Amino acid sequence: MSYPIVRHRRLRGSQAMRNLVRETRLSMHDFLYPLFVTEGTDVRSEIPSMPGVFHLSLDVLEAEIREIASLGIQGVLLFGVPSHKDEIGSEAYGHESIVQRATRAIKGWAPELLVVADTCLCQFTSHGHCGVVKKDERTNNAYVDNDLSLELLVKTAVSQAEAGADIIAPSNMMDGYVLAIRAGLDEAGFEHVPIMAYSVKYASSFYGPFRDAAHSTPQFGDRKTYQMDPANAREAIREAESDVREGADMLMVKPALAYMDIIRELKDQFDLPVVAYNVSAEYSMIKAAAAQGWIDERSIVLETLLGFKRAGADIVITYHAKDAARWLQG
Ligand code: PBG
Repeated sequence: MSYPIVRHRRLRGSQAMRNLVRETRLSMHDFLYPLFVTEGTDVRSEIPSMPGVFHLSLDVLEAEIREIASLGIQGVLLFGVPSHKDEIGSEAYGHESIVQRATRAIKGWAPELLVVADTCLCQFTSHGHCGVVKKDERTNNAYVDNDLSLELLVKTAVSQAEAGADIIAPSNMMDGYVLAIRAGLDEAGFEHVPIMAYSVKYASSFYGPFRDAAHSTPQFGDRKTYQMDPANAREAIREAESDVREGADMLMVKPALAYMDIIRELKDQFDLPVVAYNVSAEYSMIKAAAAQGWIDERSIVLETLLGFKRAGADIVITYHAKDAARWLQG
């Protein structure tokens, strides 16, 4: 039996044809832009390993927020860089803490702009871990106390929602964190506030520049006991599944570039929006090569972001958001 050879027309002949058959489109509506807010006045300090990304104090934040909103970006992901840290991360959940104050201010300046609050303790603890550290009496080893940490994370999420956060994004990966935060939010009257779960978070070297930026490098040990092994893909589905069952509304994969297969996997397996976090070192690598004149920053950034969408991401958290939004407009 012989098969006829079917020749497919190549639908690339003109720009109009390419526009017509394009499968994936990138828009500024896809982006969330991470912001680092800090105490003090007149602070606008660039993070050395992340050119173009700044620590901003609240008095200089307004101009930044208006610019972000005018570019058509739909929301910001807020990280707090507090001046005071302690063992239990008190500054994560205070009414007058930096993220809570920034949230109220942003909702005042640009009510439509979504505020996504990162819910974690690591920037706020003196030891840099994402929870409360205890010592095992017998072995003398330090460990993160899951249940105690959960209590403080719930408190953090509720205080962020009270300040006006539109989405709670817990990034800590304690066991049962989505369930606990969901229950805490509901109980406090925030049933309508969705949870963006950092469901699939790898123990990655791609967070290096962020940890410098947020001053959140663990002072001892590492995050390997609560972040995933980069070698595992099936485990990612288990993690996502349990977050879905606990009430997650969006599922995040982090980092993004080396984990495109995981983004696709979650998109195929679940019917919730998938979020790709294009993390700090992914940004730094492009900025460094572009500064050397080795690559064309604009086309590399847009191709990378498009790749996340093609892989299955509905939302992309990226430090390139402002540049990309500008390029997509013009
Ligand atoms: C933890 C957190 C981290 C990042 C976002 N939230 C660091 C970590 O897990 O150690 C990394 C983001 C980036 O690298 O851009 N709260």
